[in-house]
Amino acid sequence: MRIALYPGSFDPITSGHVDIIHRGLSIFDRIEVAIAVNIRKTPTFPDDERMAMIREIFADEPRVEVAQFSGLLIDYARKRGITSVLRGLRAISDFEFEFQMASMNRRLTDEVDFVFLMTSEEHYFVSSSLIREVALNGGDVTGLVPEPVLRRLQARFPQPGA
Ligand code: PNS
Repeated sequence: MRIALYPGSFDPITSGHVDIIHRGLSIFDRIEVAIAVNIRKTPTFPDDERMAMIREIFADEPRVEVAQFSGLLIDYARKRGITSVLRGLRAISDFEFEFQMASMNRRLTDEVDFVFLMTSEEHYFVSSSLIREVALNGGDVTGLVPEPVLRRLQARFPQPGA
């Protein structure tokens, strides 16, 4: 059984993340989405809501599990007995951070390896932080986030005239 950990802040999960998970399922038998908690002091969505949204999105996909972790990623991977970590790469800007993170984790352990998938063309510009900024200022992020996220963003940040 090939299992990958897909860690991130997911505040909130975007269509780009969902795409990486779907494509990851053609490489791995199961993917455990691991929500890093306690990273940003004041996340837009509380830990449990981020988890609930991802669970709702993958309600019909038994090969996707959702969990939370705090502390070091490699410690969590070790605890779960998982040796592959999946990450998406958007264009050049992500490379430096991902390279640094993978290298640091490599320095900490050689038991875990990172697997990168290039983000699909239509998601190159999508990030959780930009989604938050656009939604907060009343912009329309339809199509850039899955429906359960869109619904919650619209409830939290109503668009002018809506
Ligand atoms: O969605 P993000 O913010 O790009 O995800 C980054 C994340 C959560 C994967 C990374 O910050 C992480 O692994 N945090 C856990 C703490 C840790 O292990 N830090 C050392 C990384 S070298």
